[in-house]
Amino acid sequence: MKGSTQESAFAFLFFTLFTLSIAGDSITPTQPLRDGQTIVSPNGTFELGFFRPGALNKLYIGIWYHNLPNRTYVWVANRDDPLVNDTGGGVLRIDRDGRLALLNRVGGVVWSPKGATNVTNPIARIQEDGNFVLTNSATGALAWQSFDYPTDTILPGMKYGWDLKTGLDRNMTSWRGPDDPSSGDYSFYMDVHGSPQFKLFENSTLKYRTGPWNGLRFSGIPEMKTYDQFIFQFVQNPTEVYYTYTLKQSNIITRLILNQAGVTQRLVWLDAQQIWNIIWFAPMDPCDNYGKCGPNGLCDTNEISLCDCLRGFEPKTPQAWYLRDVSDGCVRKTALACRGGGSDGFVVVSGVKVPDTSRSMVDRTMSLDECRGKCLKNCSCTAYGAADIGSGSGCVMWYGDLMDTRTYGDGGQDIYLRLASSDLDDEHHKKKLIGVVVAVVVVSSMLLLGSSFWFVLKRKKASKVSRRGTQNENNPENSTMGMDLPLFDLSTIVMATDNFSNANKIGEGGFGLVYKVPFFIL
Ligand SMILES: *[C@@H]1O[C@H](CO)[C@@H](O)[C@H](O)[C@H]1NC(C)=O
Ligand SMILES: *[C@@H]1O[C@H](CO)[C@@H](O)[C@H](O)[C@H]1NC(C)=O
Ligand SMILES: *[C@@H]1O[C@H](CO)[C@@H](O)[C@H](O)[C@H]1NC(C)=O
Ligand SMILES: *[C@@H]1O[C@H](CO)[C@@H](O)[C@H](O)[C@H]1NC(C)=O
Ligand SMILES: *[C@@H]1O[C@H](CO)[C@@H](O)[C@H](O)[C@H]1NC(C)=O
Ligand SMILES: *[C@@H]1O[C@H](CO)[C@@H](O)[C@H](O)[C@H]1NC(C)=O
Ligand SMILES: *[C@@H]1O[C@H](CO)[C@@H](O)[C@H](O)[C@H]1NC(C)=O
Repeated sequence: MKGSTQESAFAFLFFTLFTLSIAGDSITPTQPLRDGQTIVSPNGTFELGFFRPGALNKLYIGIWYHNLPNRTYVWVANRDDPLVNDTGGGVLRIDRDGRLALLNRVGGVVWSPKGATNVTNPIARIQEDGNFVLTNSATGALAWQSFDYPTDTILPGMKYGWDLKTGLDRNMTSWRGPDDPSSGDYSFYMDVHGSPQFKLFENSTLKYRTGPWNGLRFSGIPEMKTYDQFIFQFVQNPTEVYYTYTLKQSNIITRLILNQAGVTQRLVWLDAQQIWNIIWFAPMDPCDNYGKCGPNGLCDTNEISLCDCLRGFEPKTPQAWYLRDVSDGCVRKTALACRGGGSDGFVVVSGVKVPDTSRSMVDRTMSLDECRGKCLKNCSCTAYGAADIGSGSGCVMWYGDLMDTRTYGDGGQDIYLRLASSDLDDEHHKKKLIGVVVAVVVVSSMLLLGSSFWFVLKRKKASKVSRRGTQNENNPENSTMGMDLPLFDLSTIVMATDNFSNANKIGEGGFGLVYKVPFFIL
């Protein structure tokens, strides 16, 4: 009994020291990888081997950076199938049928890659980009690759998303703990319904979404605008839909992860400080929390109350809303007219992360005008916007309630919200009223100024004898002395603008309404 413990302790020590043993960059039927050995990519960027995190009795196969000080694992093969209590027994080998498998001391299969097919002349290699590939060494045909089964890390060049033909869903699932690579409660995957977007879940609860790709970046990650060392790509065709990123300079070490706390992070290795620098993370602020303001709500971190309703909407349960319980969200002030055969209109909502697109439809060939027309024709269509903000074209149409909309100071985009015409008029009416008030204020100040001049002139005239004799007080020339602008009294303006009639209105400026007046007045 005692002897066996000593023996296994010795074996463990022996194999720990043996970790330095490197067996090239590949595994073949005649060259398996044993516990304690590793393989390293040709130029030494990545290393694959066995590791025992925390609890020493669980053995995993992982990939980490060969040259970085503390181990940073980028992939774990058997995260949910560790080899338990088998000190020194583990071996990763390829059998004669070309199947890769982790075997225990007695030759039982502990783990074998999902989706791998039999290969002739098999060879498994760790590549310079961190991909562990199983190929036919004669033809080079790919049988299986670790990049198709991410753990919690997306490396440069990986496809993050779906192979629609095979149903392969490449997603991230967090580690359960710092020393526990087994599948945690958080996952981050691409939802392909409507316009594809990445969604972060805790168990089955949706916590965050990136928003759809808008031609330049994800609608909900305006920061992507600023990373000029990265090349971001979104590929969507009948067989595949995925996101991938590469770097302009190959010496930059970076990774995108989903950590054990359910936070997705982009990190960059700073060689000088020898640390991983977090350059982006999400959820970042309260408005990133999915559906923070409920259906048809609008989240804005610059608002003290955070939540508001979209234009034309009002809190569904005002009592709850005032207590900051906004979960019920907002409802329309006025039902859409299309239900009764009438017509509706659109208002622009600017600078936003677009609403959840899982219940939307996308047509990349349409123009924005065509999009508006098509949305107007279907009563369930509640909003539309450009699918590609770079060209301003393409069409996304939303149906039903608008979820998880937020605003950005910079980097947001525009959507057009369908409202009943009375809710459009409401806005219009308010603007008009403001315009009239401004106009009245401007006119009265001009009159006040004018009359002051008039009094001054009159007093001057009283002290001198008028050379001009009788003068018409209403003669505008009289009151323009010393001023660039002609001044009119109210009755003249009322007459000239036909009592501020709309027919004479030629526009609205920042300062008020502008009216045309008959030429003779001037
Ligand atoms: C390995 O390094 C050499 C020399 O720096 C370079 O020419 C080669 O492209 C690199 N190979 C890979 C796979 O990065
Ligand atoms: C592994 O060993 C530990 C302690 O020696 C024991 O508690 C555990 O049940 C064993 N697990 C398995 C799966 O045998
Ligand atoms: C693959 O391997 C299995 C297990 O040995 C074997 O039964 C099967 O015939 C092989 N298939 C092909 C296509 O070689
Ligand atoms: C993630 O992908 C795996 C297959 O690799 C799949 O079994 C799992 O359901 C996916 N998880 C989510 C949340 O899509
Ligand atoms: C998620 O599920 C795990 C068990 O699988 C549980 O312990 C945890 O509390 C759940 N998280 C939430 C937020 O429900
Ligand atoms: C490496 O790990 C040690 C101990 O956990 C820690 O003190 C140190 O800061 C880490 N270094 C880096 C570069 O992360
Ligand atoms: C309106 O759009 C919905 C959702 O796409 C669709 O199910 C419905 O058939 C459309 N109605 C009409 C009249 O086109």
